[in-house]
Amino acid sequence: MSDEPTLRTAADERGFNLGAAVDPNALRNDPSYWKTLRSSFNAVTPENALKMGPLRPSPNTYDFTDADAVVNFGVANDMYVRGHTLVWHNQTPHWFQAWDYTDDQLREFLRDHIHTVAGRYRAKIDTWDVVNEAVADDGTMRETVWYDALGEEYLDLAFQWASEVAPDADLYYNDYGADAINEKSDAIYDLLERLLERGVPVDGVGLQLHALGDHPDPESVAANIERFQALGLEVEITEMDVSFPADDVPDDPLEVQADYYRSIVETCLEVGCETVVTWGVNDANSWVANFKDFPERFTTEPLLFGGRYEEKPAYHAVRDALEN
Ligand code: G3I
Repeated sequence: MSDEPTLRTAADERGFNLGAAVDPNALRNDPSYWKTLRSSFNAVTPENALKMGPLRPSPNTYDFTDADAVVNFGVANDMYVRGHTLVWHNQTPHWFQAWDYTDDQLREFLRDHIHTVAGRYRAKIDTWDVVNEAVADDGTMRETVWYDALGEEYLDLAFQWASEVAPDADLYYNDYGADAINEKSDAIYDLLERLLERGVPVDGVGLQLHALGDHPDPESVAANIERFQALGLEVEITEMDVSFPADDVPDDPLEVQADYYRSIVETCLEVGCETVVTWGVNDANSWVANFKDFPERFTTEPLLFGGRYEEKPAYHAVRDALEN
């Protein structure tokens, strides 16, 4: 047997949360999947099961089967559990038509949803992505069903409602494309500053870090993390994966990918960001292979484990970073 620690052991010993987004069907049906998850990671988040659409099959019912499967797996295996996500404009229920509601009814609907879901998991979920992707790519507030009905205040309300029922959970704002210092992260910084000035109970910001074509400069990621920390917020990397443009793949993609994972984990260790979640367990389960035209645009092996759960160079790079 090898004396080398597993990835999970290295993370545990460093006091670092290394996580994966989890598919409940794979968890139930594929022993290699849950064994890899349990032995290599010490943090989980449901990839889809806690979103409003999957949770709400009809207006007056909830189906917690899949969400419970992932959350309970995390709790049973002593893992850090992230909840993703209470308020988002995507993956709303198929029966949900915003125009069927007055603005006040929509507000009540959202309050009930947050109270029910965050309340159910109050003793199990450590950190919630309360609001996901509220800022558009150009830095303006994204015009969503929630924003159109309630204005920017929907964020204030969502964080307040979550804090009422899950007072011990850390409450996060989460977004993509804002990993380094850029126009969008500037806008998110301004938004969070406004929320804090209004006394909104926001604890942290999640940087998704879907590094598909573009790999944000680690130095700029570090500076970005530090400016959010200076606001009094925690920062986590919440949905990391690393691909290449399909028409611009380096000669040694696995090594370049490993180096990027390593540099981000090292950056986190340097600046005191204690959590990195990868958006899936292994390449065969990655969303990139199944999303819109992404398989034509990007390579589809973005994670630490290959399709057959083999440890990739990225796995070893992350473990090395955690050990040194
Ligand atoms: O579950 C249904 C299944 O019943 C149906 O037969 C099948 C047919 O298309 O669809 C299945 O649902 C899909 C679901 O993933 C589960 O596989 C949805 O169509 C598909 O849209 C959904 O994609 C998810 C995507 O969010 C939705 O926007 C991805 O899995 C998920 O990885 C992705 O995650 C997001 C984060 O939540 C937020 N940040 C970006 C990230 C990547 O887009």
